[in-house]
Amino acid sequence: MCGIVGYVGPRPSEDILIAGLARLEYRGYDSAGIAVIDQAGHLGMRKRAGKLSVLRDDLAEHPLAAGTTGIGHTRWATHGGPTDVNAHPHLADEGRLAVIHNDIIENFSELKAELVSEGYEFLSETDTEVAAVLLGREYAASHDLVAAFRATVVRLEGAFTLLAMHQDQPGLVVGARRNSPLVIGLGEGENFLGSDVAAFVEYTRNALAIGQDQIVAITPDGVTVTDFDGADVEVEPFQVTWDASAAEKGGWSSFMAKEVSEEPEAVANTLRGRIHDGLVAIPELDGLDDLFAGITRIVMIAAGTASYAGMVGKYATEHWTRIPVDVELAHEFRYRDPVLDSHTLIVSISQSGETMDTLMAVKYARERGAATLSICNTQGATIPRESDAVVYTHAGPEVAVASTKAFVAQITAQYLLALHIARVRGTLPEAEMAQHVIELEAIPRKIAKVLETETAHIAQLAHWMADTRSVLFLGRHVGYPIALEGALKLKEISYIHAEGFAAGELKHGPIALIEPGQPVFVLVPSPRESALLHDKVVSNIQEVRARGARVIVVAEEGDAAVLPFADEVLHIPLAGPLFEPLLSVVPLHLFAMGLSEAKGLDVDQPRNLAKSVTVE
Ligand code: G6P
Repeated sequence: MCGIVGYVGPRPSEDILIAGLARLEYRGYDSAGIAVIDQAGHLGMRKRAGKLSVLRDDLAEHPLAAGTTGIGHTRWATHGGPTDVNAHPHLADEGRLAVIHNDIIENFSELKAELVSEGYEFLSETDTEVAAVLLGREYAASHDLVAAFRATVVRLEGAFTLLAMHQDQPGLVVGARRNSPLVIGLGEGENFLGSDVAAFVEYTRNALAIGQDQIVAITPDGVTVTDFDGADVEVEPFQVTWDASAAEKGGWSSFMAKEVSEEPEAVANTLRGRIHDGLVAIPELDGLDDLFAGITRIVMIAAGTASYAGMVGKYATEHWTRIPVDVELAHEFRYRDPVLDSHTLIVSISQSGETMDTLMAVKYARERGAATLSICNTQGATIPRESDAVVYTHAGPEVAVASTKAFVAQITAQYLLALHIARVRGTLPEAEMAQHVIELEAIPRKIAKVLETETAHIAQLAHWMADTRSVLFLGRHVGYPIALEGALKLKEISYIHAEGFAAGELKHGPIALIEPGQPVFVLVPSPRESALLHDKVVSNIQEVRARGARVIVVAEEGDAAVLPFADEVLHIPLAGPLFEPLLSVVPLHLFAMGLSEAKGLDVDQPRNLAKSVTVE
């Protein structure tokens, strides 16, 4: 899951490549590199282990000769450690040809053995260099980059986005994709390639989405797309709906801080255009009533934070539609022979729309006859393109590796979907549906209130807890997935051991972890809405306190019953029980961020992680 950018046009390509890589760095930051064909027709290359800033500093000290054709790469290491040598681009044909690559070429050892037996030498441990050397061999035979590229990609197995250029053909960048993302940006007298539109949105919002197993060639004046056999194919144009400023930090200390602050808009924008006369009707799902009327089961498929959004969605979807819902981790799903038929609706949830585990699970389910619907935040991404229908979340670009505003947008989209299906199937009285719509429409204002009243308090709490070594999170009902999300965020960006538990499970094991001083966050359900659940959670609080835990509760404003048992209280506004997660997660996002900041860590780019995980 690396970031890839390509450019041909009149401007100095180095600036465009570096700006594009800065926007794609969320995809990996183990190393970065660029290659540029200069005005004299010579290919120059620079690559450095570490974040993009290392490469930038290097280029500032020792500039490359300027040119207007180039490719750039930011890496999340798979084959070979994060070193200068393993960084991309990789060169072949005596340095005249440069290749960058995303994902894994599965048959690389056998290809490498073939090339070694022919006398070719390799500098790195990467699978990418094998593709570069293979392309070099093909180029030497045909002296036609597009033809050589076609002959190369058909030999590759696995998943890849591959970009290449040759100094003998300046003004041309070729690319190919299989199960890995690549989009085209259309400019005036210039064209772009990128892992996603963020790579070029500063210059153009006109884009083309390339399909699977297709090859693209860009020159300053044209774009041609063919399949792997060389036949021309139609590609789908689309307009990027956000501009470059949406992907800027804009004065915030981190992208995560900005993105948490955008949680109200993420919900509001996801609701927009989908509520008519007080009821939910999602225009993108017009024509699917028969499908929704006929399904007997829904399976939500996702990974990471998106899977917790799916767990939240399950409660509301079952309650409102009376359709049984399972939530599956995408990477477990297809390896256990799941039962699927044409009455099963697979709802995949993915911010990036590129997570390989989720993509493969969707394809698997589709091949076995299930209907597939994608909830996705990224236009032109692979998962929605491989699905029968899509409900986009409109959270805007999410750059920080830890997902926040996309999470609340994913829950919102699932609630819209559930209410849409409930309307089609007639499983909810109109008055009740209308009440849920009112609740949803109030969420942005209520999240804004949590941000306003709790941000400073939570930053202070995080500061006090900077030396904490372990934190537990407890929740019941919809609070359970929020406990899991709170723990995941802390692990991801604060490197603190954290676990989320169903509060009812406490006595079955986790309570043994409690020792004096152990911080425990507890998500307390509303006493007005669910007195029974509330009282049970208050009992759980007493059980951990009795064993010395330090209890931080997230509770509804005015919940006096928890006050005597809480060391700290984080308040959320009143909301119906199914809507509480959209509010209670906000303090947990703020807390993880505050703790990461208090420890002096990189909030946006935590170690070992990447935002878009395009390997299985
Ligand atoms: C990675 C990210 C997580 C994200 C997960 C799923 O693990 O670090 O933040 O939740 O992928 O990503 P998706 O793009 O499919 O929502």
